[in-house]
Amino acid sequence: MRDIKEAYKDFPILQRQHHGHRLVYLDSGATTQMPQQVLDTVNDYIKHSNGNPHRGAHVLAIEASKAYEGARDTVQKFINAAHREEIVFTRNTTESLNLIANSYGMHHVKKGDKIVITVAEHHANLVTWQHVCQVTGATLEYMYLDDYGHLLPGEMDKIDEHTKILAFAHVSNVLGMSFPVEELIKRGHAVGATVVLDGAQSTPHQKIDVQALDCDFFVFSGHKMCASQGIGVMYAKRQFLEEMPPFLLGGDMIEYVQEQTTTFNEIPYKFEAGTPNAHGAVTLEAAIHYLEEFGMDQIQAYEHELISYVLPKIIAMPHVHVLGSHDPNEKHGVIAFTIDDVHPHDVAQILDSYGVCCRSGHHCAQPLGAYYEVPASCRLSMYVYTRKEDLDAFLEALKHVRPTMGFND
Ligand SMILES: Cc1ncc(COP(=O)(O)O)c(C=O)c1O
Repeated sequence: MRDIKEAYKDFPILQRQHHGHRLVYLDSGATTQMPQQVLDTVNDYIKHSNGNPHRGAHVLAIEASKAYEGARDTVQKFINAAHREEIVFTRNTTESLNLIANSYGMHHVKKGDKIVITVAEHHANLVTWQHVCQVTGATLEYMYLDDYGHLLPGEMDKIDEHTKILAFAHVSNVLGMSFPVEELIKRGHAVGATVVLDGAQSTPHQKIDVQALDCDFFVFSGHKMCASQGIGVMYAKRQFLEEMPPFLLGGDMIEYVQEQTTTFNEIPYKFEAGTPNAHGAVTLEAAIHYLEEFGMDQIQAYEHELISYVLPKIIAMPHVHVLGSHDPNEKHGVIAFTIDDVHPHDVAQILDSYGVCCRSGHHCAQPLGAYYEVPASCRLSMYVYTRKEDLDAFLEALKHVRPTMGFND
């Protein structure tokens, strides 16, 4: 097992300078960087084996198919899915959720039914369900939170016999917190609801076992875990996939096409229309192998160490307010905050002038911003290559924000 403290050396982009400072990248919740190992693997694939998977009998088509299907096997093991057919490649979490909403939601939800989500959902796991409800006449119901990001007492009771779908983030991309995942899934199943878990912010940072979780759908994006942009995953229990109609239509997802009718390919190919992102799948497999060099437990423990180091220091700074829990044990990889009298975009720009990359804005969670009356915030988010030195550089740059804006206290 490799020591995670060495990981930063694998990332060429972290050698960059910006505004005369070492580049400090603290926006991994938005997208992560790629290590040399992943870059070399995809480069080698493109140089030697690039072809169109599942199409053709020549060497490059065969090698491309092997690489693409090998990536599926690796993803299956990584999240402990029972069957390789349960892994559908998509572009990202958003596309995975759209697939579920269209191929499952639209067909299983009707007027009088409910879809239950939390107020902290990313728009990808919210607008999709809004749309299903608008089309079907079902009701979208929200579970609300206390001031520190915990579900308010009684909110889980909204999961009742009218609930057909329960969808929520495994880890919130703003609060950095998990809801009581096991209990929610149990409650959902107890009333016969289908449970969709958005793993965009959890899969990169902790061991995932979809069988132990027992969720019906689980989705995530490669680009948040050292793979390239444009490759994502939708996991679903096999019986769901067998029964669901396809989402996109076209090449590769068919079995036999006649002038007026078509029969569809077996799962998972029924859901993978058109030339797939084999390059992305190769990076995802390489990224998983890379993360496994450290082990997900070490990654999680290391990030906890970083959060425990930086969170109390941020909280202690005057005029700085952290969203969600202030307890490092409840935070995973993400800390969102505001600074009195300074717009988050200005905060991010000032940090950038010190070489520190942080996200600013509504983080694609506008209902949460409206609920807390904090329409925008800054967010630092970390990954395997983040170091204490990076957090020190961030804390130092943060001290300059209010003075730069003309405040003296
Ligand atoms: C919790 C959560 N869900 C969904 C998404 C959407 O991911 P993508 O943009 O890769 O589709 C994100 C992205 O930040 C996220 O954090």
